[in-house]
Amino acid sequence: MENRQQWGTRAGFILAAVGSAIGLGNIWRFPAVAYENGGGAFFFPYLFALLTAGIPLLILEFTLGHKFRGSSPLTFARFRRTSEWLGWWQVAISFVIATYYAAIIAWASSYAFFSLKQSWGKDPESFFFNDYLHIAGKPGELGGFVPGVLIPIIIVWIVTLGVLLRGIKKGIERANRIMIPTLVALFLVIVVRALTLDGAAQGLEAFFKPNWSQIGNSKVWIAAYGQIFFSLSIGFAIMITYSSYLPKKTDITNNAFITGFANSGFELLAGIGVFAALGFMAAQQGVEVKDVVSSGIGLAFIVFPKIISEFPAFNGLFGFAFFGCLVLAGLTSLISIVETFVAGVQDKFNVSRSKAVTVGGGLAALISIIFATKGGLYLLDAADNFINQFGIVLAGLVEVVLVAWIARELKSLQNHADSMSDIKLGAWWRFCLGVVTPAILGYMTIQNFISNTKSNYEGYPTQFLLFSGWGVALLALVLAFVFIAVKWHKSVDLKGDSKEGVRL
Ligand code: PFF
Repeated sequence: MENRQQWGTRAGFILAAVGSAIGLGNIWRFPAVAYENGGGAFFFPYLFALLTAGIPLLILEFTLGHKFRGSSPLTFARFRRTSEWLGWWQVAISFVIATYYAAIIAWASSYAFFSLKQSWGKDPESFFFNDYLHIAGKPGELGGFVPGVLIPIIIVWIVTLGVLLRGIKKGIERANRIMIPTLVALFLVIVVRALTLDGAAQGLEAFFKPNWSQIGNSKVWIAAYGQIFFSLSIGFAIMITYSSYLPKKTDITNNAFITGFANSGFELLAGIGVFAALGFMAAQQGVEVKDVVSSGIGLAFIVFPKIISEFPAFNGLFGFAFFGCLVLAGLTSLISIVETFVAGVQDKFNVSRSKAVTVGGGLAALISIIFATKGGLYLLDAADNFINQFGIVLAGLVEVVLVAWIARELKSLQNHADSMSDIKLGAWWRFCLGVVTPAILGYMTIQNFISNTKSNYEGYPTQFLLFSGWGVALLALVLAFVFIAVKWHKSVDLKGDSKEGVRL
């Protein structure tokens, strides 16, 4: 019996998947990764990674979710009774990410308003760490709440849980239908404005100039795979969950290609916009573009405020639009990641959606306020590094090895996807997932392990890292085993679908 909620339209599903994929990673991670790994030459490893890992994995996750029609834990439980733990592991990883991602969106929303008057003054760096975050003296100290961060975090959670409470079609689909077109339109305006600034051409030249000597370097290829993996939200349980709400008839493979190319298109646009703006800043300061390149939190909250302050006119509006884009890109990703555990809880215990949102989402919201303390930034930095390297990448590796080598189900999943799709998958798809992806992810994991055991990430104290880095990553795995010990609600059919009526 079909009783799962569904997307209203195919476009609605694609917008939601694209909304998840387009996140902070596209805006603040891709430009610097591409620049540091060969500039224009990075295009080749990047495209290669998209076609051999990104899109094949997206097809795999869409097929799993569509075929087994469940959250990630239910999908893997139906796939093989013994693989349920992998679903919970992915969900637990997503839970951790949700808690700190909400904090970053909260900062961006504060900064949208700070932009109007450039409240950061002459020293954006000191403003960010001292005046805004009130950063604690050393990692590991919590030092009380910072109201300026706490209040926007609470608002971010109210919006996110509010959307999720309304369900798939009326909540998630509608929110993405509004937010994604707005984001793209606003971002286009920013990019066009950035391109018309003095120095933009130098910025683009630095970004696109190919450095061919780098292309043989394995580090560049790993960076390409890492970027594609993170940027497409694969291995996070997200795409499995979203595709479980697809109608019975849908073109799986085509959906994956559209999502993959839309995400990369936005990424490229972000690279152009960010480097045009960096070129402008370099020209203003009379330095070279390479001296102003940065990424992540530093790019968004320190370099961009400087750029905004140097703007020739309408500084406030440009700043508001830039941070508004971060908020929109972030919110649509946060919604998707919170849905992974809402759906997991709902499936396992057969509770109503509102209960699952209140309990699952509420718990994440409560834990996330730890990032509104004075020590929040250190915790966020450590958790982010370790959960990415020993969570997402590792869970993605286990996923492909399990499906391709242990269960040996690639062929049957290929048949499922092919029966739905115009583009038929060939042996290339099984080769990419069975050989290329596990090899790259395996190599990445070994490298990550070596570099994190050789020296302490960011030079943080060992005890702090054991607790908030390694500990957090390990906790996600432990939680997976706690959850499989809990019994499924008796109405859940682990071979097919839940037998209860529609749960709203
Ligand atoms: N694809 C997202 C990005 O590029 O930022 C990755 C992501 C991060 C998705 C955090 C969801 C999320 F909550």
